[in-house]
Amino acid sequence: MSDAEPPERPLTVIAIDGPAGSGKSTVGKRLAAELGLEYLDTGAMYRGVTFAALRRGIDPADVEVVGRLAQQVELDLPGDGTLIVDGVDATIEIRGPEVTRAVSLVAANSAVRKELVRRQREWAESRGGGVLEGRDIGSVVFPDARLKVYLTASPEVRAERRSKEVIDLDYATVAADIARRDAADQGRDDSPLAEAEGALVVDTSDRDVDEIVADLVGRVR
Ligand code: DC
Repeated sequence: MSDAEPPERPLTVIAIDGPAGSGKSTVGKRLAAELGLEYLDTGAMYRGVTFAALRRGIDPADVEVVGRLAQQVELDLPGDGTLIVDGVDATIEIRGPEVTRAVSLVAANSAVRKELVRRQREWAESRGGGVLEGRDIGSVVFPDARLKVYLTASPEVRAERRSKEVIDLDYATVAADIARRDAADQGRDDSPLAEAEGALVVDTSDRDVDEIVADLVGRVR
């Protein structure tokens, strides 16, 4: 667990957590636009550290070296969906199979988590808040968030959504990958994926995005 204290100043933070394909990005971006807040995809940060490790030929399982790398790497998320890692545009590659395969190892590294949680808090504090999506936002990063949402959907629906986003992988491969990553995210020791205390649980399997967003906006206001 990170030992840094959550910030004391009240911020308008909306925490959105949930497994892969649960609708976090779609709901998070729309909610941020409706509320006039900025949006941060914290999964992209874990993917960015993974990208930096692979690019430097570092073994993602090397806990010490990857932990040090996380402190040094420059991650630039300008808010338009792009990610710049040490000056290199990594937007496409962080969604590719190599990074996707290795990211769970990097996300289980406590030194990496500590550093990224610090950056995520700093990001929100410098903006007066924001919509942050990830796995541990409501449980660890901002346990006092204004609204905590845990999105979920059936494994079939989640695999279906993801397989539509990728061009070169079939449904069965995507479903197996999601199941593997869910198990790794839920089973790790440090900040495992779980419903945060007080989180509103929303099953997005059969619900319309507009309706979900309108409901959440109403709760924030
Ligand atoms: O949301 P995503 O699939 O892009 O996330 C990539 C990985 O990073 C995923 O395995 C979970 C992990 N992650 C995490 O551990 N904590 C977060 N706050 C965000 C993502």
